[in-house]
Amino acid sequence: MIRVAILGATGYTALELIQILLRHPEAEITALTSRQEGNPPISSIHPQLTARIDMPLESLSYDEVADRADCVFSCLPHGASAEAVAPLLAAGCKVIDFSADYRLDTLEVFEQWYGAGHPDANRLGTVVYGLPELFREKIRGAQLVANPGCYPTSANLALVPLLVAGLIDSRGIVIDSKSGVSGAGRTPKLATLYPECNESISAYNVGQHRHTPEIDQTLSAFSSKPVEVIFTPHLTPMTRGILSTAYSYPQGDVSETQLMDQLREFYSGQPCVRVVEHLPATRHCSGTPFCDITARRVRDRVVTISCLDNLLKGASSMAVQNFNLMYDLPEAMAL
Ligand SMILES: NC(=O)c1ccc[n+]([C@@H]2O[C@H](COP(=O)([O-])OP(=O)(O)OC[C@H]3O[C@@H](n4cnc5c(N)ncnc54)[C@H](OP(=O)(O)O)[C@@H]3O)[C@@H](O)[C@H]2O)c1
Repeated sequence: MIRVAILGATGYTALELIQILLRHPEAEITALTSRQEGNPPISSIHPQLTARIDMPLESLSYDEVADRADCVFSCLPHGASAEAVAPLLAAGCKVIDFSADYRLDTLEVFEQWYGAGHPDANRLGTVVYGLPELFREKIRGAQLVANPGCYPTSANLALVPLLVAGLIDSRGIVIDSKSGVSGAGRTPKLATLYPECNESISAYNVGQHRHTPEIDQTLSAFSSKPVEVIFTPHLTPMTRGILSTAYSYPQGDVSETQLMDQLREFYSGQPCVRVVEHLPATRHCSGTPFCDITARRVRDRVVTISCLDNLLKGASSMAVQNFNLMYDLPEAMAL
């Protein structure tokens, strides 16, 4: 059995991760960390886990975590995560980091979007970006994997196949995304209070959302030219799910059939992407490890629509896909 620790076990992504790992035949949860005092049982924070896992939340040192675990999932916010990851790697653990700390390749871009200071800056540019559909072979040999952001996963999975096939132009891509409120995590914030977001939909961080450089970086890696997208996220009054609609210019006379054929071929045999004829809806992906994708030709544009569960394919089920690849297990095991 692979001994697994989860840092930040009181959060939303951790709850989903625990539920997947409880049915994983090769993983055993050996530590759950939190800053909560008094070592409360995990089920007191996540009642869904009552009678399913009987473990305390503990405030452990990195050495104690490393003693107990072969692999660590860090479900901490950025900044706090990198502080934990560096000593765990030094102690020989494999790490899957849910935060944004290792997703960007350069300190300059990280500081531009996340502010000055990175606790482990020298590692930037060397870390595997854990989007299995695009970087599977690199993930297999990795000690540290940067689990992608939820918005970038939905947008990049729809756009990369069309970019690599030269079916769309790398310039002029516009991504309009809607997210459920759990995307903001469990830590209370004014914008995610019920009276602020219920019965209302609003754009936020227009032109400034931190997932923008992550989308640019991945799309640029699959394009002959650097890509700079316009990305506009929206907060919607639902608990979970992301729907991304992307608008791009076709390269030449591209038909809808060509777009769909390319998506189908690109994702043929891939367990966690479904290329669908119908228009995807968050309801179809909620509670699943899938990203659903379709494409349309509309006037002079290509429109792609993709959706996923932000807590699963946008975070925890993708992390388990990465875990499975890192340990040479079937990619969709337990999913
Ligand atoms: N929510 C999503 O849809 C989603 C999707 C993709 C990626 N992510 C990323 O995944 C990570 C976890 O997200 P989440 O939504 O699960 O967050 P969350 O619900 O807010 O949980 C994060 C947990 O980390 C602990 N924590 C918070 N600040 C900390 C600090 N400064 N030092 C140590 N521990 C701290 C807290 O536990 P205690 O207070 O009990 O210590 C908290 O429960 C984040 O990096 C997030 O950006 C989230």
